[in-house]
Amino acid sequence: MGIVVANWKMNGSVFLAERFVHRLNEIDSVSRVVVCPPAALLGKFEKFKHFIGAQNCFYEESGAFTGESSPKLLKELGCDYVLLGHSERRALFHESDEMIYKKWSAAVGQSLRPVICIGERLEERGDWKDVICHQLKNYIGHCDLDDTIFAYEPIWSIGTGVIPSESELGAVVSFIKEKMPGSELLYGGSVNGRNAGEIMRINGIDGVLVGGASLQIDEFENIVGMVAQQSY
Ligand code: 13P
Repeated sequence: MGIVVANWKMNGSVFLAERFVHRLNEIDSVSRVVVCPPAALLGKFEKFKHFIGAQNCFYEESGAFTGESSPKLLKELGCDYVLLGHSERRALFHESDEMIYKKWSAAVGQSLRPVICIGERLEERGDWKDVICHQLKNYIGHCDLDDTIFAYEPIWSIGTGVIPSESELGAVVSFIKEKMPGSELLYGGSVNGRNAGEIMRINGIDGVLVGGASLQIDEFENIVGMVAQQSY
């Protein structure tokens, strides 16, 4: 079964959330659909028949951590998934691999399925193996990875319209799958209704993580359809 995860980032509105719930509730997809809206909109997905996820969580259960959300509360709000270590959080909010690992551990403790985002910057493109190894170091050989999903998002592909070639992506995917044999793997970066099919045909890719295109309902439905087609 293919997976389609929508990362709305800090976009959307109450109106968009209500439209998405209405439209996507009419779809019986054979793909697993997960929408990750901003935390402030999670409550609007109460009647959503697919899955919802958070875009981040903190690693403590409660306390004086103004502005943060605990995995426990996210679970209570109906989340089954949480994105962790997105490149925007690493760059803008200085999240380190160690902090992401603590968040991973707290999320798993609440039975949230973590989607850990990894990927190299443009200037690191020649060194992608080192970058990815470093980002994966805390998880390689870990015994508690059954529910963990990894998402390869080359930073140079996010929001640029440029995606890796089939052979480039194939090489990265087999490298990650070798390190994380039992985990599902998504690709993210400029995914849309036109390229989702070819991306899904790459051996080892289990689904897609969609940013910009996930805010347009028709486009997102197209992607869900393409992923479902490739999942047979
Ligand atoms: P775009 O699909 O807009 O390139 O964003 C990808 C992304 O960052 C998803 O997490």
